[in-house]
Amino acid sequence: MSIIRVDNSEKTEFDKAIEELKGYFSDLSKSKGRPATYNLLTYGCQLNESDSEKLAGMLQSMGLEKIEGSGELAAADVVVMNTCSVRENADKHLFGNLGVFKSFRSSGENSIIAVCGCMMKVPENVEKIRRSYPYVNLVFDPQQLHRFPILLRDAVSMHKRSVSICGEDYIAEDSYFPIERERKFRALVPIMYGCNNFCTYCIVPYARGRERSRSFSEIMKELEDLASKGYREVMLLGQNVNSYGKGNDDGKTFADILEEASKISEFSRIRFMSSHPKDLSDRVIDIMADRPNVEKHLHLALQSGSDVVLKRMNRPYTAEGYLRIADYFRERVKGGSLTTDIIVGFPGETEEDFVKTLEVCSRAAFDAAFTFQYSIRPGTKAAEFPDQIPADVVTERFGRLTELTNSLTEQSCKRLVGRKEEILIEGISKAGGGVYSGRTITNHLVNFTIPDEIKAQAGFCEDSLEGRLCSVDIQYARPYSVDGVMERFTDGK
Ligand code: SAM
Ligand code: SF4
Ligand code: F3S
Repeated sequence: MSIIRVDNSEKTEFDKAIEELKGYFSDLSKSKGRPATYNLLTYGCQLNESDSEKLAGMLQSMGLEKIEGSGELAAADVVVMNTCSVRENADKHLFGNLGVFKSFRSSGENSIIAVCGCMMKVPENVEKIRRSYPYVNLVFDPQQLHRFPILLRDAVSMHKRSVSICGEDYIAEDSYFPIERERKFRALVPIMYGCNNFCTYCIVPYARGRERSRSFSEIMKELEDLASKGYREVMLLGQNVNSYGKGNDDGKTFADILEEASKISEFSRIRFMSSHPKDLSDRVIDIMADRPNVEKHLHLALQSGSDVVLKRMNRPYTAEGYLRIADYFRERVKGGSLTTDIIVGFPGETEEDFVKTLEVCSRAAFDAAFTFQYSIRPGTKAAEFPDQIPADVVTERFGRLTELTNSLTEQSCKRLVGRKEEILIEGISKAGGGVYSGRTITNHLVNFTIPDEIKAQAGFCEDSLEGRLCSVDIQYARPYSVDGVMERFTDGK
């Protein structure tokens, strides 16, 4: 499979398609006597969210207005479903939502429905849509995001369904797209796409294709631009950011990106996801320790604490190797947080293997863990392994693991009580009631109140809190978060 860098040769067609769709939706809006709308559903990881920000940018350039919520699903003129295939329940979610349209179609509603994202790289899913969901107008894979306006225009103008799944792996720079960012203060910046690791349980290398890295200078240009537009936090994204740069000819590595990004003083927080233990360099950890605006938080998937299981997962490190990295991180990044992903019930996992996972969790003292029950992904190697674990055994082990990881998370939260932490404010807390939320530089979630005397200060504005820094007195630990009271702003504004 070849990797193709998207240059500007298709851009004229891209812009033309957007203009034509703008005309089409403007006519539609006039005929309906209301603005033409879109609803965009995102089912996946942060890379999917980042793709959705580009889809939203393109849809808005076509003159469409956003409506939200799955209740509104069929009320929109264009519905885009950006799917994820990492576990079976993600697949079910899409087909459940697609089923909703059947009744709307029979009641005369006529949305244009597009399905894209990782599930569309799995031939069975595409076939199922072809067969059972005739009202889906457009299907395309994540590699062709840069062609969305062209594919949509063609589907609309030809009044027939279009299925466009390609054999190439494209890489387009962010500057190719209009981007509608979800948060005012945080920018998602993918630095690479795809994955070459082929962990035996994982669909991502099939869905996202071969590893390919964006240009270093384009990334830097984007970061400078984001800083000048007021973004205070950037999230550098990739399935395995530590292998950034392979295949590019300038010799730049992920550590170079992190170091350069940290020199942009407007950024209060530089975060990254995900890292793979096999090629996380000490230099990255050193940069985390030494640069104040680089998050003191490392998300490093362990997956299993058993060397036998790791080998069968095609994860080329051992539990001891993982713990060596964990120790170096703890030693260099004092008070930092270490989080992980763990899969329970991988084929062939014995009770002894599972107990090793529990032991590594305790030794690494994870601050948080995303725990998953193994889900068979057709097409992956592990799906063919004969020794699949019975569901009741998986559920029982999963219960024991989450009990341990939940208690580690609670202990991590408790360690913050009594401290004054600098928080980057994310906005009003989901809980409401005059509570705000934000995160520490270690990515701990903090819910806090703001005393009336601070609210009464000149210049205080509730609508512009997002992205500001403040000091919070942490008073109480919950299982996954902490509560506190704001003391003062610390960003000198
Ligand atoms: N590239 C990242 C890494 O290696 O750290 C992981 C990205 S993947 C989208 C997120 C997590 O989903 C993985 O770390 C793994 O724990 C989990 N996962 C992937 N495939 C899975 C499967 N078939 N069943 C259960 N969990 C799975
Ligand atoms: Fe999947 Fe492994 Fe690649 Fe992560 S590194 S995306 S788990 S194949
Ligand atoms: Fe992400 Fe799901 Fe694809 S986790 S890369 S959206 S399979």
